[in-house]
Amino acid sequence: MAEDMITMEVARYRPELESEPVTQSYEVPLRKEWAVLDGLNYIKDHLDGTLSFRWSCRMGICGSCGMTVNGDPQLTCATFLSEYAPGPVRVEPMRNFPVVRDLIVDIGDFMNKLPTVRPWLVRTEDEPVEDGEYLQTPLEMEEYQQYSMCINCMLCYSACPVYALDPDFVGPAAIALAQRYNLDSRDEGARDRRDVLTSAEGVWACTFVGECSTACPKDVDPAGAIQRYKLTAATNAIWDFLLPRGAR
Ligand code: FES
Repeated sequence: MAEDMITMEVARYRPELESEPVTQSYEVPLRKEWAVLDGLNYIKDHLDGTLSFRWSCRMGICGSCGMTVNGDPQLTCATFLSEYAPGPVRVEPMRNFPVVRDLIVDIGDFMNKLPTVRPWLVRTEDEPVEDGEYLQTPLEMEEYQQYSMCINCMLCYSACPVYALDPDFVGPAAIALAQRYNLDSRDEGARDRRDVLTSAEGVWACTFVGECSTACPKDVDPAGAIQRYKLTAATNAIWDFLLPRGAR
């Protein structure tokens, strides 16, 4: 019996051939265990070796296979072809990023923004190694654990209408990662992150559409992180007014 097939309509952009993206259709096997990424790899291996896209782990961890599938931002290794049967399934690059080639986008903007929020543990003074680990209770870990699940896939930027209009917006993942460290009992860097987070392009640019949290494949809830930091920023501003830094 002939194998079921599904049509994949894939956005192609080869700067040496096209001035703007075009669509190319491919027929791939529709197997129930196949993710969209498996379909793309089938095309690459059997139909058209020139198709370019990023992937690495195939298990929703590395965050490199994000694309737009039938209009939605998705990890293609975690989205099954059978969900789109009988097809066609349309695969395009992530929105809101410049396309380099086919399904590959330029993520330089995110990579430049990320270090501005200092997404690492900041200590004013490190304890001597012989004093042992920085201990933390399960409750203290619970405070930031959700935000630590971010895999930098950038689907939240692809989904964010604010970022689409204002590319200077620091953005959902970077702010969620700032909160991951701000809320960590071992961290002392909240003040260092404050200027970026409270700038015009920081949390106040977010209009709480919430598409970032809908798109997030790891349930990080960047929209929640942003709203939570707005409260922190407002509280800090009140304290600054009542007790200017010099008076504390
Ligand atoms: Fe790593 Fe999809 S290939 S998250």
